[in-house]
Amino acid sequence: MAEKKKLWGGRFSQGTDEFVEDFTESISFDKNLALYDIKGSIAHAKMLGKQGIIPKEDAEKIVEGLKEIENEIKEDKFQWKKELEDVHMNIEKALIEKIGDIGGKLHTGRSRNDQVITAFRLYLKDETQNIINLLRDLQKTLLQKAKETVDIVMPAYTHLQRAQPIRLAHYFLAYLEMFHRDEERFKDTLKRIDQMPLGSGALAGVDFPLDREFTAKELGFSEVMRNSLDATASRDVIAEFLADAAICMSNLSRMSEDFIIWNSAEFSFIELPDKLTTGSSIMPQKKNPDVLELIRGKVGRVYGDLVALLTIIKGLPMAYNRDLQEDKEPVFDAVKTVKGSIIGMIKIIEGLKPKKEEMEKAAGGFALATDLANYLVRKGIPFRQAHHIVGQIVGYLTSQDRELESITLDELKKFSPLFEEDALSILNPYYVADARKTYGGTAKERVLEQIQYWENQFKGD
Ligand code: ARG
Repeated sequence: MAEKKKLWGGRFSQGTDEFVEDFTESISFDKNLALYDIKGSIAHAKMLGKQGIIPKEDAEKIVEGLKEIENEIKEDKFQWKKELEDVHMNIEKALIEKIGDIGGKLHTGRSRNDQVITAFRLYLKDETQNIINLLRDLQKTLLQKAKETVDIVMPAYTHLQRAQPIRLAHYFLAYLEMFHRDEERFKDTLKRIDQMPLGSGALAGVDFPLDREFTAKELGFSEVMRNSLDATASRDVIAEFLADAAICMSNLSRMSEDFIIWNSAEFSFIELPDKLTTGSSIMPQKKNPDVLELIRGKVGRVYGDLVALLTIIKGLPMAYNRDLQEDKEPVFDAVKTVKGSIIGMIKIIEGLKPKKEEMEKAAGGFALATDLANYLVRKGIPFRQAHHIVGQIVGYLTSQDRELESITLDELKKFSPLFEEDALSILNPYYVADARKTYGGTAKERVLEQIQYWENQFKGD
């Protein structure tokens, strides 16, 4: 098999087996981190020069060289080489080829172990902020949709059985709350991502007088990590990011499921725009909600990404182990999937058209039964007894294939003499929804309050 010499090849008498090269390379995916790696290297080189650890002119040449490489990468002119293993070695080798032996000074007081996690954290800082921004857009889209749907009632479900009428806006505001918590989770995680490992060396710290505060400032990190073993060995923050992503996907997936059901002929609660649906190759009548199905399906990936990372870090001895190279692909996959899914959901929410009449119709009928029972409660009947009486009414009507609204006052009186004329006015989904005036409830005035609350929250944006 072919054998080749490496940057670290000093103590080796044989080149690397080609299988090992293929099996251990990470350049095929960690080139995603290239610009962050260069950023980290530029800050490190400046710091080495400032501290007199390498001559200032050398540091300047290194920075120049790195900037040229950065441009080559941006213009897609850079030649990535698998035999150079990973993004860090590829860039370092290119630097040495560009500016000569001086390039070899860049790695002074640094190890790939602190280098890789520095680049990864810089990348994650950006992507976490991107996800936070998208989640914010999603919340604003939901708020807009809520404003448009205050005057539509629909049945809300428990056990996928019609339960009680709500205002459709109340539904959108519920998801707004959930995606707001997702945003907060990512923001909280961001605080812990925003800590700089660089300057920890391979694991124990570095025997040159580094100025870590300086590098942190250059790179825009809020803090310097306190412990070099922790800095190089830990990936719990990455797991936290993936957990945030997994939870966010679960929320997106639940919402997708609702819309898929609502879009079915059986429910027919919403119309999805043509441009966001796809046809069937065999059944001409079909308009499939593929975007929603794929958001629901892609959750599997992101849960997998989280479980993969948790499994990778479980049982790793202190400190760095090569296993940690496997931390990247799950994150790249999760970032791509979460961003795509949020964008897809924004488009769906913007484009969906509620069918007011269908929703209204479904919101009436036996979904109003609780309120009829509560009518009796207000007249002094214990709730359990009232529940029983209304249960009998439901049974009576069902056996005659009749809806609740069709009942007459005379009939009601047969079940309880306490029913009077005003009992009939309850049998209206808008009336019933608006009776739920408790804080957080679905009454119009409460829904409008919630809308106002979120408008205030987003005011500064
Ligand atoms: N490609 C490696 C990774 O992703 C970089 C660190 C390699 N360190 C080492 N000691 N071999 O983790």
